[in-house]
Amino acid sequence: MTTNNVNQIQLNTGATIPQVGFGTFQINPATTQKAVEEALELGYRHIDTATAYYNEAGVGAALKASGLARDEVFITTKLRNFDQSPDTARSALEKSLEALGLDHLDLYLIHWPVPSKDLYVPTWKVITDAADEGLITSPGVSNFLVDHLTRILDETGRTPAVNQIEVHPSFSQKALREFCAAHNIVVEAYSPLGQGADLSDPVVTGIADRLGVTPAQVVLAWHIQRGTVVIPKSVNPERMAANLAAADVTLTDADLAAIDALDRADGRIGGDPAVFDWPQTQEDAAARGEGV
Ligand code: A2P
Repeated sequence: MTTNNVNQIQLNTGATIPQVGFGTFQINPATTQKAVEEALELGYRHIDTATAYYNEAGVGAALKASGLARDEVFITTKLRNFDQSPDTARSALEKSLEALGLDHLDLYLIHWPVPSKDLYVPTWKVITDAADEGLITSPGVSNFLVDHLTRILDETGRTPAVNQIEVHPSFSQKALREFCAAHNIVVEAYSPLGQGADLSDPVVTGIADRLGVTPAQVVLAWHIQRGTVVIPKSVNPERMAANLAAADVTLTDADLAAIDALDRADGRIGGDPAVFDWPQTQEDAAARGEGV
């Protein structure tokens, strides 16, 4: 099954991004190629990975195996925290390109601001220089709060194309989304389903029952109608297909408002970007058996 109904959202670089992408966070490196091949087969044309997921090579292998032309698939990866420095960012980018088998990325993000290191401003300059050279079509950031965005805007004059942040109904980040909208920064939601937790909310299941769609489709349609880019992750082909088809679901204004009302101040699932500072080294990541 394929769908052609995924919107293309305009970025401030002039490029466009498919509004529904396939997220690969927590997909095992050994099974990533299979999952991404399946996603491409189902019609996904936007794949999100990160150096810290250790699965860029699997994404690259799937792209190659798909036979799709480079310009048919939008590829994002991210600079991991322990490569965040003006001295190492450029070589980290080159390693990512090599792992993916690509000569340019559609989107390259600083994965976290890590304010305790205070290196995100000079690192951002390296990223925008690489974009000017053509290695990155659209430079962006992830997990940046208003303070961090304000600093890079003020100190470099370069606006990220995207801010990829945790957004789901129980943590909807309205103020940060509004700041991004005001500065022409597209918001991408990670953990768009609240890692599955928001799918059993009675407001969500009630709307799903009324429309005859799944709770995940309701949540994804909420993001889509709010103008947010989503990167749901699933290793289950039926769910992968259903998530992509959420682009066909239409919610009423009352549905959108009811889902907006699920926002909670304590709804965050992932790390808090104001303090999140690990792993600082590859050894830290290995000790945890993972990387973010
Ligand atoms: P699975 O990979 O077994 O499908 P998020 O994108 O918010 O991080 O959520 C990902 C989690 O939600 C994964 O555990 C994934 O499990 C699950 N998931 C993804 N799509 C759906 C869906 N359509 N319905 C229910 N659970 C889903």
